[in-house]
Amino acid sequence: MTVNRRQMFAGTAACLAVVCGSPIRLSAQEASDGFTELKIARVNRVLLEGGKEAGLWTYNGVNPGPEIRVRRHGEVKVRLVNGLDEPTMLHWHGIRIDNAMDGSPLTQNPVGPGETFDYVFPVPDAGTYWYHPHIGSSRQVEHGLYGALIVEEETPPADMSELTLVLDDWLINDDGTINQETFGDIRMAAHAGRMGNWFTVNGESRPHLVAPAGRRLRLRLLNCANARVMNLQVKGAEPHILALDGQPLGKPRVLGTEPLQLGPGGRADLLIRRATEQITLANVNQANEPLEVAYIDREGAQDEKDTSDIAALPTNGLPQTMDVSGVTARKLVMEGGAMGGLTGAKLRGRDVDMREMVQNGMAWAFNGVAGITEEPFANLKLGETAVFDFINKTAWPHAMHLHGHHMLPVMIDDKPLITQDWRDTAVVAANSTMRVAFVADNPGKWMLHCHMLEHQAAGMMTWVNVEID
Ligand code: C2O
Ligand code: CU
Repeated sequence: MTVNRRQMFAGTAACLAVVCGSPIRLSAQEASDGFTELKIARVNRVLLEGGKEAGLWTYNGVNPGPEIRVRRHGEVKVRLVNGLDEPTMLHWHGIRIDNAMDGSPLTQNPVGPGETFDYVFPVPDAGTYWYHPHIGSSRQVEHGLYGALIVEEETPPADMSELTLVLDDWLINDDGTINQETFGDIRMAAHAGRMGNWFTVNGESRPHLVAPAGRRLRLRLLNCANARVMNLQVKGAEPHILALDGQPLGKPRVLGTEPLQLGPGGRADLLIRRATEQITLANVNQANEPLEVAYIDREGAQDEKDTSDIAALPTNGLPQTMDVSGVTARKLVMEGGAMGGLTGAKLRGRDVDMREMVQNGMAWAFNGVAGITEEPFANLKLGETAVFDFINKTAWPHAMHLHGHHMLPVMIDDKPLITQDWRDTAVVAANSTMRVAFVADNPGKWMLHCHMLEHQAAGMMTWVNVEID
């Protein structure tokens, strides 16, 4: 808990050869029956240099889990093998997936210890996605259970190399072990959630990565932290944002001096021009200090100046804008947390005061209800245009995530947004309202929750039903 910042960023890129294998690249058709196995196993792995083994949980022995790559419209076939002694399941974050394969408690039973579950689904959208457990998420994700799911464009852009950077922060003790006492801590859940003190990129502290100087570089950034909103800067380059949460921008735009904000669960694809300079990735913390988290050395020669335009990635078919005139917004009032003044809420059908909420591990409410309900927040007809107002009456930002769909933020605090980008995880600032719109075109039961995993566990969870008729 008291690993200080100097220690936090003192870790060198060196790591024991046996413990930091690079992610295994899997095509989705490996085993004889076409399934790729993701087997959860505990591994002995040192995070803090000179410290003890951290006690990680992994898919296939590596952190981050194997990067799964598949072509757009291809099929993912993954067999989850639960080697934990607690139940788990696998959620495919950001994929407009068949509901039965969504891997949430609304769509499947937990996969018990020693059990397996087969996930088979086509991928409709190219882009950068990820997978992680969806029960006991705060503990399971924090122990290292997550990985990238990369859906390649049907014709991948020819002129670029790419790097996937899976970002995480861990809350570790002075001896390098994952802090256990704070799991379920209600104070933490009522504040920002579990904020780590050890930052890793692809499982390593401040790694040095390489990319060719003679080609453009696509960086796929994934925020897999439990609760940290990352504010990322790229030094030594002027990147263009190509995609957010997997969905291509209609027109790539330059990431200027404002850091790129990625809530927990959020992703961004950046494009960096050919050049010989070293690139540094930094995260700007709350004290406004940019802390360097990774270095990318560009190797080889850069033949000529790279000045031509940056082309957009091929669209996944989502429209550039949405006409929401005449659509009544459904209001989701977010309340609670530290300094929130919430006095009570409905919990499992009963009105309880804040004291009783806290005794039950709850600190937050959506529309006066803590935790999931029988009834969905919204019953939508298939094909209906839906508009949600996320009304954040709390003193904290929240990363609102809707399963099975992407949402278009169209307005913040009554001001129409000039720049509109599709998101599956949208950060709603403290004391602010965000209006999002989407077409409910994917039937089934879809979770809608805050992706700060401790907020989710402490009440910020509801769901949306998309009915076929
Ligand atoms: Cu990435 Cu409901 O989760
Ligand atoms: Cu939250």
